[in-house]
Amino acid sequence: MKKGRKRFSLFLSVLLLTSSFYFFSTETAFVQAAPEKANPSSKAFDQKVIARVDSERIYKDIHYLSETIGPRVTGTKQEKQAVEFIKKRLKSYGYKVETQEFSIPDQMIGNLTAGGKQIDINIPAGSAATAKEGLIAELYDAKLGSPEDFTAEASGKIALISRGEFTFQEKVANAVAAGAAGVLIYDNSDQPAPLNPSIGGETTIPVGGISKASGLSLLKDFALQGKTVTFTVEKLGSATSHNIIATRAPNKGSNHDIVHVSAHMDSVPFAPGANDNASGTSVALELARILKSYPIDKELRFVFVGAEEIGLVGSEYYVSQLSQDEINRSIANFNMDMVGTDWDKATAIFMNAVDGKANIVSDTALATAKRIGTPSELILYQRGSSDHVSFHDAGIPAINFIRREPGTANLEPYYHTPQDTIEHISKERLQEAGELVGASVYSLIRK
Ligand code: BES
Ligand code: ZN
Repeated sequence: MKKGRKRFSLFLSVLLLTSSFYFFSTETAFVQAAPEKANPSSKAFDQKVIARVDSERIYKDIHYLSETIGPRVTGTKQEKQAVEFIKKRLKSYGYKVETQEFSIPDQMIGNLTAGGKQIDINIPAGSAATAKEGLIAELYDAKLGSPEDFTAEASGKIALISRGEFTFQEKVANAVAAGAAGVLIYDNSDQPAPLNPSIGGETTIPVGGISKASGLSLLKDFALQGKTVTFTVEKLGSATSHNIIATRAPNKGSNHDIVHVSAHMDSVPFAPGANDNASGTSVALELARILKSYPIDKELRFVFVGAEEIGLVGSEYYVSQLSQDEINRSIANFNMDMVGTDWDKATAIFMNAVDGKANIVSDTALATAKRIGTPSELILYQRGSSDHVSFHDAGIPAINFIRREPGTANLEPYYHTPQDTIEHISKERLQEAGELVGASVYSLIRK
């Protein structure tokens, strides 16, 4: 009985082997018979993209977004200006362009002036608003903001507190208990951008974060001199942000697979966001220009995302609007975020996957890099923190392309600072990102 089964399976294997050999041999014959022109090699297809990537054009767009417009904080008119710029460009390329508008949580806008000079400030979610004319009060030197750092003198004043030792929440609670009228927390390290404290929940007095330099000068010139400052916090209700979606469907048929290329347009306050993320935005615009005209047999979507920096709000909204059918047809998301830094240590292109595992996007990029000879090392890495998370959570294979230092995985030192400017952008690295992602996307969607 046993022997009989063995012989039968041997017969089956031979049959399968010969039939698959037959299959492969006919397939090979077909490929060889095809004329070279009608079926160029992958390398020739790659050339159609990489020969056209123009880092000068990408650089100019980064310049416009980061220098002409400047910081594009979620929900502000600058973010809207970026939206208009991108929409106009995509329409000029002939794409079908859709704009999605969505609500964002209430934003707190702060203003601090001392002796007629304006001081950069961040207002955390949960801060109270002031009256329209602002809070005009003296500053109280509350040191680290422990209960012992407050005396009866703090009452009615704005507590000026240094970062360190206690949580921001504890410092604020101690100031409230002492009857302070507001809180300013200053950094304890030399960051150029104002501190962005997060205070956990709602509080009854206005709270702001400022830089160490601002804090120390307020301490010397105002707190110790008994001079007043003006602190205004305004709640911006019913603010909105936008996503822009440019679609190219293949000429024939329906129900095609969809490839999404995404990049966020917004930036954090005080950062011109040249690398984070005018770089990804401008490379995506360049790929939209190049890929507009070649025959494709999948649907191509460029998604320019708003409200990333306040917690991936735009990309979550985008995937929430996809039908189950569209999600089922979505095979890949290439997300570009911070692809243009000139920081010398960021020699690798990291492929961040939420689960750290290879997928169709990372496999395609690796194969493409090998074919086109991408100079930088590609590193698959487990990390969220960008819009690929929203695609991944919706079940779409997604990778975030981002430049980092190999080994440490450090980001450039300009990240989320006023130094994230065009001066720290590398044209060579823009070229590399454009060629890698462009040729990868094209290899998936081409006929
Ligand atoms: N451009 C960064 C991307 C990033 C990726 C930063 C990986 C750090 C690691 C992005 O815009 C960003 O700053 N993300 C936020 C998180 C997000 C959910 C608000 C971050 O990492 O703090
Ligand atoms: Zn970013």
